Amino acid sequence: METQMVKADAQSIARAAEYIRMGEVVGFPTETVYGLGANALCPQAVHKIFAAKGRPADNPLIVHISDLSELDALVLDVPEAARRLMEAYWPGPMTLLLPRRPCIPAVVTAGLPTVGIRLPSHPVARALIEKSGCPIAAPSANRSGRPSPTRAQHVLEDMEGRVPLILDGGACEVGLESSVIDATGEVPVVLRPGGITPEMVSRVAGGVRVDEHVMKPLREGEAVRSPGMKYRHYAPRAQMEIFQGAPGDVARVICERYDAAPQHAAIFALSGHAPFYGMRRVFTLGSLAQDAAGTLFDLLREMDAQGVERIYSEAVEAEGIGLAVMNRMGRAAGFHIVEV
Ligand code: TXA
Ligand code: MG
Repeated sequence: METQMVKADAQSIARAAEYIRMGEVVGFPTETVYGLGANALCPQAVHKIFAAKGRPADNPLIVHISDLSELDALVLDVPEAARRLMEAYWPGPMTLLLPRRPCIPAVVTAGLPTVGIRLPSHPVARALIEKSGCPIAAPSANRSGRPSPTRAQHVLEDMEGRVPLILDGGACEVGLESSVIDATGEVPVVLRPGGITPEMVSRVAGGVRVDEHVMKPLREGEAVRSPGMKYRHYAPRAQMEIFQGAPGDVARVICERYDAAPQHAAIFALSGHAPFYGMRRVFTLGSLAQDAAGTLFDLLREMDAQGVERIYSEAVEAEGIGLAVMNRMGRAAGFHIVEV
């Protein structure tokens, strides 16, 4: 199959919608990361997403809508806390797990009784859903196990020959995937942190819990609330280690490790700390956790392209969006986090 990458405009969005209606899969931008979309109500189309990504069948997909009025046809019930979260943070980088209606094919939810719903804010994503006339099931548009794509070029790297069309809408604003929140109960539970932070959830829902696996690897055979938690994710080819502690101490230990490393090594650091590392090979995450969210996946792909074999990374503070950054970094590093 030939893959075309085209700038997103009214004409190309109409073409992409045509593909979706025909049961094909297309790459498209959202405010978080690029998605790989298909008609959520058509099992054959959704199967093609799993095939294109090489995704395990037990990992469910998020269903994207363009307007709140589409919600009732997809879910059985909207608890009060969920209603408040939608009012506050949709459209935006938040996915809510709700009890699904039987019309949603089992392949979308991996047979689970809930479905993840998201109303994205990106105008291209919303126009595409609207023009397609159906909800769109879409995971991140990377090959399974690779960092999520934050630029159309990343989608092309992973999906060339696997999908007919990729809409290029430029770089994604958030740069990390949406917050996934179980909203079926009275107190929302954050299963995957993202742009909508636990603090933001608590403020409008009157409480929040953060699943323990957000910052911890799974033990052998342990059950999870969200299947995506059990897969190695965001993984660069390099081995990665994260160092946590006072900045000066962290820098000293990273320098020691770097200097002793036999392999092609690199350092991830906040830009204010770059002087600690002298002439060593430093890639800056930006000056704040907020910047790190936007650069992390880009850097992980860049490391692969440059053949880096070891990454020594500073930790960022796991507060606000920093929790999402540390969750993705932790998973990229197999939760190899060293306290110094
Ligand atoms: O920002 C995003 O969420 C992007 C864009 C394209 O919208 N999508 C995305 O999808 O990141 P994906 O498939 O890469 O990640 C979805 C995560 C997975 O970890 C999956 O296991 C979890 O959400 N998930 C989806 N539906 C679920 C459900 N019913 N119950 C538990 N976890 C669910
Ligand atoms: Mg993904």
